[in-house]
Amino acid sequence: MVRICVLMRAMYICNCNAVTDADIRREVAGGVQSFAQLQERTGCSDCCGCCEAEARAELAKATRTTADRTPLAIPVLA
Ligand code: FES
Repeated sequence: MVRICVLMRAMYICNCNAVTDADIRREVAGGVQSFAQLQERTGCSDCCGCCEAEARAELAKATRTTADRTPLAIPVLA
């Protein structure tokens, strides 16, 4: 058996509100689909706003990744 250990470090996206890329991925996995929802849930980019472009990019990336993992429907024979 081969075990692969991946250490994933979180990177701060929003320093004002201590929101990391991992937080954004977690929120997307929990159902967040828009930047407004992300702001509502995390407070990301509601202070100085200098993180907005990066937060939006991270949200888009996380949303694409989540969509890629959505299983296809499997036909069931009855
Ligand atoms: S760094 Fe995100 S609001 Fe300031």
